[in-house]
Amino acid sequence: MTHKVTLLPGDGIGPEIAESVLKVIDSAGVNIEWDRQDAGIVSLEKTGETVPKALLDSIRKNKIALKGPITTPVGKGFKSVNVTLRQKLDLYANLRPVRSIGGIPSRYQKVNLVIVRENTEDLYTGIEKEISPGVTQAIKVVTKKASCRIAEFAFKYAQKHNRKKITLVHKANIMKISDGMFLNSFREIAEKYPDIIADDMIVDALCMNLVLDPCKFDVLLLGNLFGDIVSDLAAGLVGGLGVVPGANIGDNYAVYEAVHGTAPDIAGNNIANPTALIFSALLMLRRLGENEAADRIWKSVVVTLAIGAHLTGDMGGGDSTTEFTDELIREIKSRG
Ligand code: NAI
Repeated sequence: MTHKVTLLPGDGIGPEIAESVLKVIDSAGVNIEWDRQDAGIVSLEKTGETVPKALLDSIRKNKIALKGPITTPVGKGFKSVNVTLRQKLDLYANLRPVRSIGGIPSRYQKVNLVIVRENTEDLYTGIEKEISPGVTQAIKVVTKKASCRIAEFAFKYAQKHNRKKITLVHKANIMKISDGMFLNSFREIAEKYPDIIADDMIVDALCMNLVLDPCKFDVLLLGNLFGDIVSDLAAGLVGGLGVVPGANIGDNYAVYEAVHGTAPDIAGNNIANPTALIFSALLMLRRLGENEAADRIWKSVVVTLAIGAHLTGDMGGGDSTTEFTDELIREIKSRG
């Protein structure tokens, strides 16, 4: 069968790693008809829009997309394409599985946790202004509806993936009303899932405990801002942003993406590491029901990294993106 998937290569290293992923998926025998779309700077130059209608139409039609990183100007310029996509398509759940991988140098060897982050509100609604010269204000929005919805998502995810415990992360001791609502909504939903342990932790304590012993956590559920920060911290526990996948999921659509940025310092040099986008594509393949291919690619990546003879520079090797990809494809085909 042929799947139809929207492909958003992004900019910077995006097109290079996207090309690698396409070759890898193809080598595992999965047929995908890719609908290539642009966003951000690339589409701004072509269409005057950073999130063009054609892109949204394509995702709405295919219901599934793979996305490379996209530049967001800091402190000025256009609103983050990632944030816009999440809001326009109501991709309310951000999922980031964080697992130790043999061959990737890191401080911990047995991390296996999943971060679920609420994607649509909190301080990321973009409601901020300068009230008077030198005085600014940003508004944190937390609704009961979104808090219950993300809690339901986390419990259903835990049930489906045989996870035993969800830890809700908050700062309700200080933000008693907003984070208080997030926490209380979680507790309400938890009552429907008595088989899953539901506990909670204040975000600062969580950060310390994660660094001391990440292996004791299972699923972490966070609001948008804390989720953004803690998910990068967690990636650092298993080797960094180059090896963790990400997905933005709603009731109707799912966008799978690498969580690192466009790496402008190395873009265009064919040295970027495609592993994170490959792992994100594996989550996508599983949603498409291509579990055998996903398993085969996963094993091939793990073996290639463990052998360590063909790694990109960020992983301590000297191979180009193309050489690493070719080696991976050789491994995938040898398991076919
Ligand atoms: P970055 O993740 O692009 O780069 C940080 C460091 O990691 C750089 O030294 C870079 O070379 C390295 N790096 C990142 N990905 C790599 C890969 N796959 N292989 C090898 N090395 C890699 O973060 P930075 O510099 O803060 O952001 C650059 C741009 O990316 C900004 O415009 C930012 O807004 C955007 N960005 C986009 C994201 C997305 O689309 N999901 C996520 C994060 C940042």
